[in-house]
Order: sequence, then C-alpha cells, then structure tokens
Amino acid sequence: MGIEKVIEYVTSHQRDFEEQLKSLIRIPSVSAQPAHDADTRRAAEFVRDDLKAMGVSADLVETAGHPIVYGHWRNAPGKPTLLVYGHYDVQPPEPLDPWLSPPFEPTVRDGNLYARGATDDKGQMFTHLKAAEAWLKSTGSLPINVKFLIEGEEEVGGAALEKFVAENRETLRCDCAVISDTSQFGPGMPAITYGLKGLAYFELIVKGPDRDLHSGTFGGAVANPLNALATIIASLKGPDGRIAIEGFYDDVRPLEDWERAEFAALPFSEAEFLASVGAPSLEGEFGYSTLERKWARPTCDVNGLYGGYDGPGPKTVLPCKGGAKFSFRLVPDQDNRRVAEQVRAHVAKVCPPGVTFELIEHHGAPPVLVDAKTPAVAAAKRAVAAGFGVEPVLIREGGSIPVVGLIKSQLGVDTLLLGWGQNDDNLHGPNEKFSLADFHRGIKSAAHLLAELSG
Ligand code: BES
Ligand code: MN
Ligand code: MN
Repeated sequence: MGIEKVIEYVTSHQRDFEEQLKSLIRIPSVSAQPAHDADTRRAAEFVRDDLKAMGVSADLVETAGHPIVYGHWRNAPGKPTLLVYGHYDVQPPEPLDPWLSPPFEPTVRDGNLYARGATDDKGQMFTHLKAAEAWLKSTGSLPINVKFLIEGEEEVGGAALEKFVAENRETLRCDCAVISDTSQFGPGMPAITYGLKGLAYFELIVKGPDRDLHSGTFGGAVANPLNALATIIASLKGPDGRIAIEGFYDDVRPLEDWERAEFAALPFSEAEFLASVGAPSLEGEFGYSTLERKWARPTCDVNGLYGGYDGPGPKTVLPCKGGAKFSFRLVPDQDNRRVAEQVRAHVAKVCPPGVTFELIEHHGAPPVLVDAKTPAVAAAKRAVAAGFGVEPVLIREGGSIPVVGLIKSQLGVDTLLLGWGQNDDNLHGPNEKFSLADFHRGIKSAAHLLAELSG
C-alpha cells in the first residue's frame, strides 16, 4: 500500500515541515481584529497554495467575513471520502507582556514551538496537510478521497461557515470527518475525544440612574446597578455547585456507568491537577469527580465584569450602569437556544427593582457526543497507535468546536477528534506552545489514518 514510503517521506521532511509551519504562524491571522483582516486573508492564501503545491485542487471561498479554504482530491473511486476540518485563524495575542518571545515569531524552547496558533489550530491542522503531501509526493496518490475545509472564523463564532456548509451539502458529502483541535490526555498519552461541551454565552447590562451619582447623597434611595448585577450573578449557582436556573438540568444526559468507570481508570491525580492550576482547592458540582465535572457536567462561569470605578484609590460613586459577560458550557442533550430562554426568564425573575437590564446572546455551540464504537474510531485508534507508538485512551473534553454539530446535522456524519495538543499548551493565553515531537507524531498518525480508512 506504500505506507512505508509515506512514513519515510514524513521522517525525512521533518525540518521542512517545521519551517513551513513557522511561515504560516508568522502570519498574524487574528480573526477578531479588523486591523488584521489582510493578514487573515494571507493565511488563507498560504493554506490554499500549500494544498495546490501538493496536487490538491483548492480555492478560497469568499464570505461576508474571512474566506474559507476548500480543497479536494477525489481520484480514489469506490473508496471512502474523509472531510478534514481545521481553522487558520487565531485568538488575539494580548496581553503581550507575559510572552517570553513575540507571539508571531515562532521560537523553539525545550522541543516546543512557542507562538500564537502553534497548537490552536495551525500546528494541529497542518498535520493533515503534511500527511496528504507525504502520500501524494511519495506514492502519487491518496488511498481515499479527501476534502479539506479550513476556515478563518472559528475563534469569533462567525456565521460564514454555517452558511457555506448548509449551501454546499452535496459538495461536502463525506463518510467521515476528522479534526485535530483538541488535546491528548497527557504527555505520551494520546487520546481520541468522543465528547465536547457546547456553549451559551451572554452579556448582561444593568442600568440604573441616568448618570453616576454621589453614593452618600443618593445611596440607599436609588438602586445601584452593580449591587443588582452582583445579586443576579450570585443567583446563577447554588452552594452545592449546581446551576440554579429552573429547567437547566432537564436535558442533561447523565454519565453512563461505563464512562464513570473509564474516567476513574485514567491515571489522573487530583493533587497534581490542583498544583498545576495553582488554586487553593478544587471546587465544583457536588457528587462528581474532577474529570466528570470538566468533561461531562454543565458549568457556569463569569468571564468578565465591568462598571463603576476601578482606578487607583477610592471613589464614592453610585454608578449608572455595569455589565457582566458569563457563559455556560453545555452537555448533551442541552440546546443552547433553550438555555438562552431559561437564562432570560431567570434574570427577569431575580433582577432587583429599580434597575433595568439588557441581555445579549453572544455565539453558541451545540454539545457533541460521538459514538465511540464505530469502525472509523477503531481505524483512528490503529492510526494513532502507529503514529505515537502507544494506544490512545478515550476521553471527553470541556472545550467547544461548533463545526462538529454542523457536520452531524448537515452532513450526517460523526467526527473523529484526534487531538495532538497538551493540556498545558496555553491556548488562547500567553506563551501558547505545541510540542514538535507531537507535531511529527500527529503527521504520522494522520498519514496512517488515510490508509486505515481505506480498508
Ligand atoms: N480548539 C478550541 C476548542 C478546544 C479547546 C477543544 C480545548 C478542546 C480543548 C477552539 O478553537 C476554541 O477555542 N473553541 C471555543 C469555542 C468558540 C465558540 C469560540 C471555546 O471552546 O471556547
Ligand atoms: Mn481551535
Ligand atoms: Mn481556540
């Protein structure tokens, strides 16, 4: 079948692949920042040109936002078709101060490549491109048909991809999808992820008097929007760590016995985890382990608070308004639109008198759970075992990848979530990194996956 020649190509091109990845990472494709729109487009062009250079037909698809790269190689008649999804956009690098090397100047330290986008998702996405290149350059063909869908708005919850997928269901038709945009269980412990959380994100703005007031002259007689905001925020969760919104748990699918057993069997140390986050203790929903809380139970977190005086020294003010950004991570079978209705009803119920509120719904994502007992997952297990030299474990994760739900609802197929990252890769934070050894093992696994899926 030629896999030996392919792996030989991968091994002999490691330095080339690293240099190419660095070139892609140097393009600051920050999708959230309009000042980087031209850079974001350049990253799309880089991906398109890389696909073309290896012999894959590829084009930019223009959208209302950032372009989508679509590529395809369909010269394996009778063989299955794999859809590879990835994103070339990255999160803003700010704050810049904690970075030990500039975010868009990829730097190798201790075998890790440090840069924004190193693991999320340029480095991980690139493994599938280089695996295809290795097949095409060393054998002249791919063992299966492959379609590439690489977008530029994943980090901003853009609407372009949803529209593109809905309007091009025939073009995108496939038997299986693969995404590398998650993590391993730990160093040397590759994983196949079978569950991701969904997301429902809100911004709540609370308004009181029509201007800031003296808190001595007016306090006690006029409601304070920040006090009201604190009341509302505090009402979201109970002391048992459960979300106190009516109906919130109605659609939560309980953990199955085999899952609780598998999670408990993983080599996970609560003490080491506690030390790694540097908090005084671990807290969460009563009755669940840390892995269960992280992977399979819904959560609520305040992501930001603003309003009033936060400059140096005291200022006795009764602020006229304040706001909070808060979000829920959801699990199957919760629906982010239904959660939005429940949150709106809850805020209306608990909002104290004397203030008004505005609740904005930011982007959401559906939770996903894929069948872990399919032939495709078995093929992926063999591929990862071949690439990493060790059997992968089955895990769920707390992050969200909106396209997985879209691939299921629009194309009717499950996605293989083969993450090459590590939990301490600092994605979205300063000093994001990606292990170069994992980069190369990921390429090998991706190359094996194409062979394994052809059977
Ligand atoms: N790659 C991440 C998702 C992820 C992170 C999966 C960690 C598993 C572990 C993705 O790029 C991301 O950042 N997703 C966002 C959601 C999106 C709607 C902004 C997230 O999870 O916050
Ligand atoms: Mn990502
Ligand atoms: Mn991300």
